[in-house]
Amino acid sequence: MEFQNTLEFAQKLDKEDKLHSYRDEFYFPKVNGKQVIYFTGNSLGLQPKRTKKFVDEVMTDWAELAVEGHFHADKSWWDYHERLAAPLAKVVGAKTEEVSVMNTLSVNLHLLMVSFYRPTQKRFKILCEEKAFPSDQYMLKSQVRFHGLNPDDAIVEVKKREGENHWRTEDVLAKIKEVGDELALVLIGGVNYYNGQVFDMETITKAGKDAGAFVGWDLAHGVGNVALKLNEWGADFAAWCSYKYMNSGPGHASGIYINEKYLGKEDIPRFEGWWGTKKETRFLMKPEFEPMENADAWQISNAPILAMAPYLASLEMFEEVGMEVLIEKRTTIVAYLEFILHEIDAEVDGSFEIITPADRGCQLSVFLHGHGKELFDFLMKNGVITDWREPNVIRLAPAPFYCSYEDMYRFGQLLKKGILEK
Ligand SMILES: Cc1ncc(COP(=O)(O)O)c(C=O)c1O
Repeated sequence: MEFQNTLEFAQKLDKEDKLHSYRDEFYFPKVNGKQVIYFTGNSLGLQPKRTKKFVDEVMTDWAELAVEGHFHADKSWWDYHERLAAPLAKVVGAKTEEVSVMNTLSVNLHLLMVSFYRPTQKRFKILCEEKAFPSDQYMLKSQVRFHGLNPDDAIVEVKKREGENHWRTEDVLAKIKEVGDELALVLIGGVNYYNGQVFDMETITKAGKDAGAFVGWDLAHGVGNVALKLNEWGADFAAWCSYKYMNSGPGHASGIYINEKYLGKEDIPRFEGWWGTKKETRFLMKPEFEPMENADAWQISNAPILAMAPYLASLEMFEEVGMEVLIEKRTTIVAYLEFILHEIDAEVDGSFEIITPADRGCQLSVFLHGHGKELFDFLMKNGVITDWREPNVIRLAPAPFYCSYEDMYRFGQLLKKGILEK
């Protein structure tokens, strides 16, 4: 498509946008009384208007039914989480039984490593990307130390090449080969939080499995953003948060995927609690743990219903729309944003450098060479909500559910103004 940097053209794209009506389904913050241009759906998605109804329903059930809500609420609480598995499985390309919702992301990755990081004297190394999201770095180091090992020996990072801003698949594969039969686990952020790169999860999963390792993915930035086929790829496990592209509210429940071949097993190492034991016998309060036949076996505590209600609301919207339509719009709106950046760069000699490679989802990370934090501050003051990462990068994620093409055009005009006024 031939893009144009005009308001009329952007509005024409909005008119043709299949998701345009969904913009009104979200609350937008305001700056100086005007709705913001929201680029931080990769950090915290906007609140869908329908979410309140789902939360209120739980509050009302609690007020009116108290403990009886566990079994007699319209959406009973004891099995509330089960309502999320089927729609969520579609989003991540898994079978319903492979998906569960529980806890929060870092907690879940730790719990999954109980099952999938089992170092032996020979096979003890974890392969990850360099400069992984800090929580992942802390997680991996603490897991390694927990097993009495030294992170310097056990953690192998795949580096970017000198002068490059992205990882090359061939370098990941070469590292997997090099570590060989010392490799216990590959655990990478499927979509990188900093540069927005989408890793070739299929190829890397296959290589990790061929090397005899477990392969897991942190999909915080991948879920609801890119096409995922966890079951088809044969990944062992994955976990993600729900508050970014899935719009489920700050710190709310996380999802997990566990490959079907590990389900229904009693002998797999796992931290267990009463919500993982078979629901048919759970309330008989027996001492024996009989794992649920699905990923719910990894659940430990009873489900935090108020943290799940917004996820159920969000999944209703994903069901209505489907990942294909979201990805189609995402691809076009990100391409339009890139076009606008190039146009403005040419007009004002902005020296922007997009460091996100072609394998991308919703996020463009832009190096603002020659412009300091004052440009970021100008944008924020003028209602462009974006974020700043050292040394000089802004991350722009036009979430397809609620961002418009007109937003992209208006952002370009504000960017130009910010540079010219400097
Ligand atoms: C890639 C990645 N991993 C892990 C986390 C940590 O998430 P949580 O605080 O929900 O454990 C985040 C949070 O933004 C993230 O982006």
